[in-house]
Amino acid sequence: MAESRQMKKILVTGAVGQIGSELTLELRRRYGADNVVATGRKTAPSDELKNSGPFYFIDVAKKESVVEVIEKHGIDSIVHMAAILSAVGEKNPQLAWDVNINGLYNILEIARERELARVIVPSSIAVFGPETPRDNTPNETVLKPRTMYGVTKVAGELLGDYYFRRFGVDVRGLRYPGIVSHETLPGGGTTDYAVAIYYEAVKNRKYTCFVREDTRLPMMYMPDCIKSTIDLAEAPLDNLKHHCDFNVGAMSFSAGELAASIRKHYPDFEVTYEPDFRQAIADSWPSSLDDTAAREEWGWQPAFDLDAMTKDMLENLERKHREGKF
Ligand code: SER
Repeated sequence: MAESRQMKKILVTGAVGQIGSELTLELRRRYGADNVVATGRKTAPSDELKNSGPFYFIDVAKKESVVEVIEKHGIDSIVHMAAILSAVGEKNPQLAWDVNINGLYNILEIARERELARVIVPSSIAVFGPETPRDNTPNETVLKPRTMYGVTKVAGELLGDYYFRRFGVDVRGLRYPGIVSHETLPGGGTTDYAVAIYYEAVKNRKYTCFVREDTRLPMMYMPDCIKSTIDLAEAPLDNLKHHCDFNVGAMSFSAGELAASIRKHYPDFEVTYEPDFRQAIADSWPSSLDDTAAREEWGWQPAFDLDAMTKDMLENLERKHREGKF
């Protein structure tokens, strides 16, 4: 049985991504700048990320490149955010497999060999499929995804749980819904419309949405996403009955309701709907999640609903637009 040890020197993979970029900065605030080593595969880090602590380019699918940084910094925990998301994964399933499966396998093997204190590896609502009950989807249910991203995330949950039971590696993970944020754009997911719509509302008061108006998915605002990740990472191991597959809910809205929330601020905001290949992916995912396990085992509690998120997104994006950032 694994013993809970504190995280002291943390490696973040995928640190240049939508979630990784903000999560790394928060971890640096909490654990100390030099104790959180950021890594990315090819996208250049922002000045803030690069200047606030160590940064390296690595490829998680190449184990030696990860080991080198781990040895150099005496890393004891890995927050493994590197992944290819659903839409890019459908365009390049082979790359999704390589990064999401071989990459995770390398991370878990490193954790086993070096007896690391903790591995955090997010999963996703993409583990579900059309046979899964769509409303208030239970934690334990049918996992038959239709995307390569979903296939890799189901395998990742099972692999993480296996490493915990078989080797005592303290691996933890949660199923993120669509994540909305204003710092770093998401990279090729199906839920990206829920971010793009705010940028276009601020810039042009017009948006062409790539899913239907009635498409309803679970979503979460970035401050809640960061909080959920760190709360799970820091929860006492003894309280956990689940490990790599926690549902985490925050809000659930249709694309039309999202537009209506923005229209409360910009009454002239216009949205047209032109569904593309991502519609079928969205249709195969839940509309809302039952996250009782997360609430009971580590006290999960979201703070933002749709209108609170809209207000905060628009305030931040209006400022950035005035500063000429987009
Ligand atoms: N946001 C992700 C995607 O759309 C879901 O985990 O791929």
